[in-house]
Amino acid sequence: MQSYVLVISLLLMIVVAAVFWWVVGHSAANAEHEPIRHVEGYRNGLFRGLVVLGIVVAVGTLRPWPYGVSAADDAVIVTATGSQWSWEIAPQEVPVGRPITFKVTGDDVNHGFGVYDPDGTILFQTQAMPGYVNQVRYTFTKPGQYRVLCMEYCGLVHHDMIDKIEVK
Ligand code: CUA
Repeated sequence: MQSYVLVISLLLMIVVAAVFWWVVGHSAANAEHEPIRHVEGYRNGLFRGLVVLGIVVAVGTLRPWPYGVSAADDAVIVTATGSQWSWEIAPQEVPVGRPITFKVTGDDVNHGFGVYDPDGTILFQTQAMPGYVNQVRYTFTKPGQYRVLCMEYCGLVHHDMIDKIEVK
């Protein structure tokens, strides 16, 4: 099956390449181009404007992402390890308004570390995988009791892999 897909893909690529080849080969002829020459300036301006708009939108929407945050700040480190079928979270009490870096791993199989606010809305989640430490950064803005639920089916008692984080 996969080799058919490969052959079909290659054939289609050859067709596309042939079309490009034909277009490039015929683009030197000026006769068809002459009647629309007056839109060229407008089109170039539109293109440059769209490039600038794209850069502004990309930079503007990427800037608030957390990836630029340095590790050498005053973040509280919380380690969380999932194992069948409980969490080991330390410390379980964290301050409100300070960035928390969760370092999440798994002991046996894959688990999902999901944190819910007191109203039951999920705030963030990451995988708890054996052999890997995934990091999530979060700043709690309200005190309360937050729930930790396993987000990945990990066996018989998956549904009971519930713990809590106290934000004070
Ligand atoms: Cu651990 Cu589901």
